[in-house]
Amino acid sequence: MGRKIDLPVIVLNEKTYLESAGDRGFELAKICEAVSAEQGMSIVICPQQVELAKIASSVKIPCFAQHVEAVEPGSHTGFVTLDSIKAAGATGTLVNHSEHRLKIADVEFIIGKAASLDLLTIVCTNNIAVSKAVAELKPYAVAVEPPELIGSGRSVSKEDPGIVEETVKEVKRVYADCVVLCGAGVTNGEDVKAAIELGADGVLLASGVVKAKDPRAALLDLVSGV
Ligand code: G3P
Repeated sequence: MGRKIDLPVIVLNEKTYLESAGDRGFELAKICEAVSAEQGMSIVICPQQVELAKIASSVKIPCFAQHVEAVEPGSHTGFVTLDSIKAAGATGTLVNHSEHRLKIADVEFIIGKAASLDLLTIVCTNNIAVSKAVAELKPYAVAVEPPELIGSGRSVSKEDPGIVEETVKEVKRVYADCVVLCGAGVTNGEDVKAAIELGADGVLLASGVVKAKDPRAALLDLVSGV
């Protein structure tokens, strides 16, 4: 796999919040780019799908799609393919986010085809067993996120440290090169620090920055935990 992302990494999923639509999402990406450069911190942005090409061509940090379908290019309507995100300038894609689940066979297809296109895959999982199963498919990264903590403001790294620690251990046992992230409720530097102390290579988050009054300050706070 050719592409590399420095670790630890903060991955910001813009989701489909109003606060990240259109120009606001573009501004968020620019804030991430600036903080990344100033602080020497690895930050990845996952713009709203319709803004992916524009943002990927406007910032120097890696851009990931939020989702792709497990289909080859061709006669499909309204789908997003790996080939199209590559053409849009993406570095990779989130896969199987808990808000956009896929069948395991589709996850396997996406990981394999992404690797052949030199795109990175961050596969979201909801527990340790699923994390282990996904690691067998050799994605770039597994991101464990207990669904009940998503958007809660209560960080997985503090509320459920066991799931982070065990996911790191089990995933790396199956596939030592796999990057392991954790997410759900991550809001501040302490949450990031706790995640890293538990062995995670970084965090995946959304609302803590996207919905913050001052997204730049929120991002700087997160970086302070590294
Ligand atoms: O993709 C990140 C995510 O599901 C966590 O969301 O808002 O709890 O940071 P949030």
